[in-house]
Amino acid sequence: MSSHFILNITSERGSYDIFMGDCLPHLFDAANATNVPSGNNITTAGNNITTASNNITTAGNNITTAGNTVVLIDENVSRLHSKRLEPALKFLPVLALTATEENKSWSGVEKIVRFFMSNGCNRSTKAIVIGGGIVQDLSAFACHTFFRGIQWEFFPTTLLAMADSCIGAKSALNFEGTKNLVGVFENPRKVIIDTQFASTLSDRDLCSGFGEILKSALITGENSLTNLSHHWQLPPQKANLEPLIRDALTTKKRFVEEDEFDFGNRRMLNYGHTLGHALESVTNYAIPHGIAVVLGMDIENFVAMKLGLMKPESFLSIHEMIKKYFPIANELTKLTNVQIDAILPYIMKDKKRTANGVHFAIVTKPGEWDIPLIPLDDRTKNAVTLYFTSEYSIIKKICTAQ
Ligand SMILES: NC(=O)c1ccc[n+]([C@@H]2O[C@H](COP(=O)([O-])OP(=O)(O)OC[C@H]3O[C@@H](n4cnc5c(N)ncnc54)[C@H](O)[C@@H]3O)[C@@H](O)[C@H]2O)c1
Repeated sequence: MSSHFILNITSERGSYDIFMGDCLPHLFDAANATNVPSGNNITTAGNNITTASNNITTAGNNITTAGNTVVLIDENVSRLHSKRLEPALKFLPVLALTATEENKSWSGVEKIVRFFMSNGCNRSTKAIVIGGGIVQDLSAFACHTFFRGIQWEFFPTTLLAMADSCIGAKSALNFEGTKNLVGVFENPRKVIIDTQFASTLSDRDLCSGFGEILKSALITGENSLTNLSHHWQLPPQKANLEPLIRDALTTKKRFVEEDEFDFGNRRMLNYGHTLGHALESVTNYAIPHGIAVVLGMDIENFVAMKLGLMKPESFLSIHEMIKKYFPIANELTKLTNVQIDAILPYIMKDKKRTANGVHFAIVTKPGEWDIPLIPLDDRTKNAVTLYFTSEYSIIKKICTAQ
């Protein structure tokens, strides 16, 4: 199976294409195009597909010659897909990265910069990034800041990265417990979506990706929800991913091309993220991002209903949909107790915050949405608190009021 073009994204920062299909021809192209000067370099790099730190040491000797193309890869992906990837990656210097939110940080960037330096990377170096949203965010930030920016191509390996994060040109680091506090807008040069990677994802990570797909379908409306009901099945391995990914990317393209820098309607893609990010932060990232977004959507809808911005019947219909598609959400969120009061300060740090409140992205009914400014006053705070003790709370088992 070869890959085929599915979408082009055009923005002020330039344009890039998204392909779907087998990633190997693209990886071989990158390996063939790279200027690897000696057999020794090929051999040492090839041995290092899963233990890239050795490669850093050995490649240091090649500082003036190596470095045209380097690979940053999720260490789980490099292990689980080594048989398929190694024939292409053995020709390239490879750094394996551990995909944790803790590593999406300055120290994570330092590790990559050291790897770039050790491999003699320069401004014409291209990085191949293979992984989920964490490896993407971290690697993209490092690529866009190393020598003020080197090219990178992205090979998403999680459903979330395939259906959502691979477009939109955002990269981000977490800072002192706050999600995505630091980051830049810059495009990858190319995105290759190879759904074979999804074969090794856990149910938890498939459901996390599906969380962003459900968000996107609710924003788009009935056609997307019908597409979703045809192609998403539980257990998630049975899902037909390609139509779901295409649909979510088509929705996202519309928003990011209209509002590249997230000051207008693109903020709608943050539906569920204000509370979702807060939940991720207070649980120390125990809830995967896409699941936190879905839970965040339910809480934000509840708050909107309590503030009179959403009809109760709309809240209920989306609430039922969330429960239907996420029967495992409750299972995933049985965690240690989280104090509700700990959630509120994170809302205050949300990037959609202004001096007068926070912009809440809400779907008032499938296909219809709004981004009202919600005052951060007692009414809003009480509504958030009330959610967790209400009959609707999907996650009340983990939260107790103080
Ligand atoms: N830049 C953006 O526009 C954007 C958008 C949405 C989310 N994000 C960020 O993405 C992150 C979440 O990313 P994610 O959900 O893709 O997951 P992830 O990158 O956190 O990966 C989840 C787990 O899956 C493993 N993994 C990755 N690919 C695998 C595969 N093919 N088989 C088996 N295991 C695999 C990883 O090693 C990790 O253990 C969050 O930090 C979120 O903030 C960024």
